[in-house]
Amino acid sequence: AKNPVRVLVTGAAGQIGYALVPMIARGVMLGPDQPVILHMLDIPPAAEALNGVKMELVDAAFPLLKGVVATTDVVEACTGVSVAVMVGGFPRKEGMERKDVMTKNVSIYKSQASALEKHAAANCKVLVVANPANTNALILKEYAPSIPEKNITCLTRLDHNRALGQISERLNIQVSDVKNVIIWGNHSSSQYPDVNHATVKTPSGEKPVKELVGDEAWLHGEFIATVQQRGAAIIKARKLSSALSAASSACDHIRDWVLGTPQGTWVSMGVYSDGSYKVPAGLIYSFPVTCQNGEWKIVQGLSIDEFSRKKLDLTAEELSEEKALAYSCLS
Ligand code: NAI
Repeated sequence: AKNPVRVLVTGAAGQIGYALVPMIARGVMLGPDQPVILHMLDIPPAAEALNGVKMELVDAAFPLLKGVVATTDVVEACTGVSVAVMVGGFPRKEGMERKDVMTKNVSIYKSQASALEKHAAANCKVLVVANPANTNALILKEYAPSIPEKNITCLTRLDHNRALGQISERLNIQVSDVKNVIIWGNHSSSQYPDVNHATVKTPSGEKPVKELVGDEAWLHGEFIATVQQRGAAIIKARKLSSALSAASSACDHIRDWVLGTPQGTWVSMGVYSDGSYKVPAGLIYSFPVTCQNGEWKIVQGLSIDEFSRKKLDLTAEELSEEKALAYSCLS
C-alpha cells in the first residue's frame, strides 16, 4: 500500500473548501489508490465551522482518508504537506479599495509562504486559488525563495474548463471530445480564452474548433466574454461564487500536474513566466502546459495571430500593474 500524502487546504471552512475536501478524500485529486491525510487551515473566527467540517469527514468514512488535521495554526497546517491548495484569503468587500484588499492578501500570503518554506515536505506542490490568484502566487513565490518556482502555480483550470464547456454547448457535443483550448494570462476578466488551436474528436477524425463553429464573430465576441464573465454570472444566479466547479478544477489541476496530461493534450495553468510567447518574465501567467513526471512544461511554438497578440499583451499589462500594486503594499 502507498504511504499517505499530506494535502493542505487553506480556507477549508469556506465554500470551496467544503466542496473540495470530500473530493480529495475520495481520491479525485491524487487518484483512487492514493491514501491522503487532510490538513485544513482556517482563521480563529471560523474554527468552530472548521471543526464541523472535520466531523463530517469522519462521518463520511472515506476509505482513503487516513487522518485529518483541522487547525488555525499555520505551522501545524503546513508541516509535512506535499500538496498545498491555498483557498483562504481576504475577500473584497463592498466599498473596499483594490489596494486595501491587496494589502490584506499580501500579508496573508507572505506569512503562509514562510510557513510552507520552513515546514512543508521538500518538493511540495503549491496551487493558489484565492484571488487575486496570480499575484497571491507571485507573493508566495517571493517569500518562499527555497521553494522552486516551478512548484508554485495558480488556478486557471476553471476558466479552461469553462471554455471547454462553452464549446461543447455551442456544438452540442460531449465536453470530453473537446481539447486544447488555452487560457492566457490573469484569472480575471482580462484573461484571454483562445480556441485557435483547439480541436474536437469527431467520427471522421480531429477537427479544429474554429472550422466546426464557423463563426469568428462569436468566437471573438460572445464566447470570450462568456468565459471571462462566467464567475460573475454564477454569483448572480447563486448569490454565492462558484465553488463546486472551482473545487473540481483544482483537483484537475493537481491531478494532471502529479499524474501527467494525456498524450496530445494540454491544459492551462498559471505558472512563472520564463518569457515564452513574449510574456514578461517574472509574472505568474496562465499558459498552455503539458505535464510529465510531476513537472509542467509550457507548450512551445504555437502561432499567435494579431488578435491574440493584443489579448496576450493586455492581460500581461494588467498583471504587471497588479504586481506593482502588490509590491507597493509590501513597503
Ligand atoms: P469563502 O469566503 O467561502 O472562504 C474563504 C475561507 O478562507 C473562509 O473560511 C475564511 O475564514 C478563510 N480565510 C481567510 N483568511 C484566511 C487565512 N489567513 N488563512 C486561512 N484561511 C483564511 O470563499 P470561497 O468562495 O471559498 O473562495 C475562496 C477564494 O477563492 C476567494 O478568494 C475567491 O475569490 C477565490 N476563487 C478563485 C477561483 C479561481 O478559479 N482561481 C474560482 C472561485 C473562487
